[in-house]
Amino acid sequence: MSERSAGAKTAKQVVLQAPISSSDPATLATDDMDCDLDPLSADELRGVCERLREESRRRTVALASAVHELRTPLAVMDGYIELLCNGKAGELTAQQSQILADMQANEKRLKGFIADFLTFSAIETKNLNMNFEVGDLNTCLSEVCSLWMPRFQKKSISLYFRPEDELEPFAFDHLKIQHVISNLIHNAWKFTPARGTVWLSAEQLHWERRLREEPTVHEKRRIDTRKLPKAARVIVSDTGPGIEAEFHQEIFQDFRKLTRPGNASDSMGLGLSIARRLVNAHGGKIWVESKPGSGSKFFVLIPIPKH
Ligand SMILES: Nc1ncnc2c1ncn2[C@@H]1O[C@H](COP(=O)(O)OP(=O)(O)OP(=O)(O)O)[C@@H](O)[C@H]1O
Ligand SMILES: [Mg+2]
Repeated sequence: MSERSAGAKTAKQVVLQAPISSSDPATLATDDMDCDLDPLSADELRGVCERLREESRRRTVALASAVHELRTPLAVMDGYIELLCNGKAGELTAQQSQILADMQANEKRLKGFIADFLTFSAIETKNLNMNFEVGDLNTCLSEVCSLWMPRFQKKSISLYFRPEDELEPFAFDHLKIQHVISNLIHNAWKFTPARGTVWLSAEQLHWERRLREEPTVHEKRRIDTRKLPKAARVIVSDTGPGIEAEFHQEIFQDFRKLTRPGNASDSMGLGLSIARRLVNAHGGKIWVESKPGSGSKFFVLIPIPKH
């Protein structure tokens, strides 16, 4: 084996071991190596990956600037719609009111897409600013619930919120956690059929020491819960169609969506990947437990920093 091809093999191993997503340019570069071109040395390959990453970052920034610009005309339209709805530009017929209501609903959706895309690009370009402030998680969650309640009522789905009374205030980024929970509730609302139920609940627990089953007396004595770090766990569960086990990890990837009744073709498959990244930025975890036909249960674990 020549020195050059030996070097290429090492390079391939190095790149494959790196924690990268399938959409990462580095993956594309390793895929390219399977064709009949001269193999690249480790340094050359690293250079190519770096250039691809930079190019992808620049493209995301350009796209984000364009998307950002959409917010101004949208705000102007928002103002005019509001004016018409309030009857300040003359009285409306029932049909005109209905048209305006549709326009308003679509405008809300567009705002949601823009917000999601801007968050996604901020994460991609490492420009996500975290704003940790001590606050009450129950209040933060109940605000999300109130915002969603009218849409649940309209679709005849019951939405329940169970707060955790024991939860002390702790430092987290309120808006980002609201974004995470909102994305989960949006999915629950979207996929749960009418007359279904969605629960949002919070609880305080000790950080991830998964015990096999019921601990033995000896184990119980050894585990001093006062010494374990604490975490808040938020659960969003629904009586929707459920998700097959093989997709439980995949659905958290960028632009990954499954064909489901209720999922509009214009959904982007970004909600869960954004949620995952925002939870990771808190040092937390997100996962799903679900079986087809038995609903879905999404868990978000947020560490509670020590005072
Ligand atoms: N509560 C749920 N019940 C059943 N399937 C779900 C649920 N939540 C998510 N999924 C599945 O996971 C996929 C990914 O969800 P995600 O929120 O990332 O994307 P989306 O809802 O399709 O699009 P977007 O959130 O960008 O509008 C969905 O397309 C859906 O198939
Ligand atoms: Mg979604």
